[in-house]
Amino acid sequence: MNINQELLEKYNKKGPRYTSYPPATHFSENYDDKDFINSVINSNNENPQNVSVYIHIPFCPQICHFCGCTTESGFTKPFLERYVDALIKEIEFVSQYVNDDRKLTQIHWGGGTPNAISLKYIERVTDKIKECFDLSDEYEMAIECSPAHLDFKHVELLKNFGFNRISLGIQDFDNKVLDAINRRRPKHSIDKIIKKIRDEGFTGTNIDLVYGLPLQTVDNFNKTIDKAIELNTDRIVTFSYAHVPSILPRQKILENIGFPSAEEKAKMYENAYKKFTEAGYVAIGMDHFCRPNDEFYLALKNNQLHRNFQGYCTTKTTGQVYGFGASSISQLFSAYSQNVKNAAQYIKKINEKNTAIFRGYKLNKKEKIIRDVINSIMCNYYVDFKEISERFDTDSKNIKEILNFDHEKFKDFLDLNLMRIKNDTVSISHDARLFIRNIAMEFDPLLNNKIGTYSKTI
Ligand SMILES: C[S@@+](CC[C@H](N)C(=O)[O-])C[C@H]1O[C@@H](n2cnc3c(N)ncnc32)[C@H](O)[C@@H]1O
Ligand code: SF4
Repeated sequence: MNINQELLEKYNKKGPRYTSYPPATHFSENYDDKDFINSVINSNNENPQNVSVYIHIPFCPQICHFCGCTTESGFTKPFLERYVDALIKEIEFVSQYVNDDRKLTQIHWGGGTPNAISLKYIERVTDKIKECFDLSDEYEMAIECSPAHLDFKHVELLKNFGFNRISLGIQDFDNKVLDAINRRRPKHSIDKIIKKIRDEGFTGTNIDLVYGLPLQTVDNFNKTIDKAIELNTDRIVTFSYAHVPSILPRQKILENIGFPSAEEKAKMYENAYKKFTEAGYVAIGMDHFCRPNDEFYLALKNNQLHRNFQGYCTTKTTGQVYGFGASSISQLFSAYSQNVKNAAQYIKKINEKNTAIFRGYKLNKKEKIIRDVINSIMCNYYVDFKEISERFDTDSKNIKEILNFDHEKFKDFLDLNLMRIKNDTVSISHDARLFIRNIAMEFDPLLNNKIGTYSKTI
């Protein structure tokens, strides 16, 4: 992959990551609990037919200064207990509106650090999920774990509870970098943890890396990439560090140390791409790498790769996503609904009225069309307007009008052969991967003054 320097200078500007469309910055506080319950009832008649569950654990024993997730520290045992009680209550309440014939195919635990709470709480919640939903034979249950708090015994227990995928937040293998971002070092060596995960029979292990952090250089990040390859996990994620101190004041302190330049960041990305693909991985979407026999790659080849707030997914595994816990987002075909972010407020609201919605968004048909186009661009590097028009019972001309589609907008990429527009299809070359958010932005008629709240695209 060769990154064009002129494009780098021109396009390194703020923009959405498009984990949802419209992005969460557009959600409205006029959307309330009633809207949420109606959206859940409607979702019973919508595609995908499956059910996905997201559980948010917003607690970390120590907060990393780079972190963009909703999380809190300083929690006590009784408080945690009340949080878990609220989770159970919310699952019982919402699941009664979900039709029994829908299969639960995906459960994702994120945070925060779910593995930093007592494993008995995890067991209580997984038992409740299994009681309230009908688990598919081919389900995936994944958990995001910080190696600073992961014991070998935890790996065994998680397997017993039914988990089959563990995602390890590594960020960087260099302790200098971890110290600079106030991140606790791993408790055991990562090699041993991964061996334990394999020995216990988990079907998958992801590792997360982040490039663009303080004290990272092109050279020392190369070492992190090499180490990641040595571990031979089935998936590797390389997130671009998102710096948004206006929303996350904790990140401001890192400005005292400074960050790698955009050119250095692009080089880190380029090296990761080169080294991972040479080692036999294939690139997925904006930032994932997997093995060629992975369901992600098979989905990509059929233009069937999708994305939700939890990351990439396939049409087969993903379902309507029902989110539980503080700040969690339910991602249904026709609406997004987000819970209050603060854990104490979440507990209070759930105890009062079983729901804790603070904002949401109902999508109209046009927005669903735009969402499908942007998703396809972000995941498959390809979009077929005709195929999307058939799904929405319209024609390609109408889709192009909705998108304000104009070749001129893509001139820079078309002139360099980084993009091809042929009849009703658009394809984007691997060399334009780093600019995929910029390209997606040109399909987004909603993009407006919210720009200040986004991170830079590179
Ligand atoms: C909830 S955390 C992972 C679990 C666990 N808490 C840990 O840190 O290992 C999810 C992932 O989001 C990524 N992440 C967090 N903040 C980020 C930021 N500001 N920019 C890019 N990626 C970020 C990190 O790679 C992190 O591993
Ligand atoms: S990166 Fe993980 S451990 Fe660090 S603060 Fe964020 S969620 Fe917690």
